[in-house]
Amino acid sequence: MSIRLLIASEVVEVAALSESVRRFRMAPLHRPSYPSFLGGEHVQVQLGDGLRRDFSLCGSPSERDFYEIAVLREEDGRGGSERFHSSVRVGEEVYVSYPQPGMLIDERAAHHVFVAGGIGITAILGLLRGFAGAAEAVVHYCVRHQADAVYLEELEQLGSRVILHVSTAGTRMDAEELIAGLPLGATVYHCGPESLMRSIDEAAAARAVPTRSETFATVPKRREILGAPFRAIMLAAGKTVEVGADETLLQSMLREGVPIEFSCEGGVCGSCVVEVQDGPIDHRDHCLSDSDRRLGMMTACVSRAAGDQLTVLL
Ligand code: FES
Repeated sequence: MSIRLLIASEVVEVAALSESVRRFRMAPLHRPSYPSFLGGEHVQVQLGDGLRRDFSLCGSPSERDFYEIAVLREEDGRGGSERFHSSVRVGEEVYVSYPQPGMLIDERAAHHVFVAGGIGITAILGLLRGFAGAAEAVVHYCVRHQADAVYLEELEQLGSRVILHVSTAGTRMDAEELIAGLPLGATVYHCGPESLMRSIDEAAAARAVPTRSETFATVPKRREILGAPFRAIMLAAGKTVEVGADETLLQSMLREGVPIEFSCEGGVCGSCVVEVQDGPIDHRDHCLSDSDRRLGMMTACVSRAAGDQLTVLL
């Protein structure tokens, strides 16, 4: 998916919500308000230098004078969140996409249970903002330190009951226990780190509890060994790219000047999908369907060759 409709905007407010999370509010420059959106939807924000990232909309759907996002600073990330924290200031011009669909409330559920891990609270808060039953909702919010918890006041204003799980205080959430204790007819909505989401999905699958989730891109850390090196032959570009063990196909293509769109760098958004003509693929994304994969589609930002060479139609 490539989002091309962008709204010229200006950053109108920057606020620190915790040591590592900042809230950014943006207003449109050439129109009175932003398009309407549903709770749980997200936008892509593009900075002046072309850096693009996807964020959950955290503000109320009734407020369209501005869009609100929150950004976690990732020290070991590839620099996107660092760029937002260190240099995006009030007055900076940015480009904001039209809202994109996210999680939806399960209308058939009798009970709604929300689980957020870390910055995943932004997706959960956005969903609750558009949910008429937010006042009866239970939110399990998992953080490492108490001070990491953000948006508690907003959750309180919605009337939701927040149960804070603080791992350094010994109150880490037990996914199996949570799922086992759910009332009949409950649907679980979750967003957070991969390990938390996996533990919920596994526990829920074992008891046939329905779940809905929003995946955040997990960007590989700098100098992390991502897999074996391989060679990618880019047919249309007429280039052969050597992909090192600590870099992605996307990074090596950009290094060699092969044009390619990208955004999340975490295998979520689908912006960087390429078509592979030949060579086995080690798929690591969260966005391609089985049929996409059978057709040879591959995300350049996270997936790799399963052998020593790929031929790409690009
Ligand atoms: S950049 Fe988003 S899936 Fe690759």
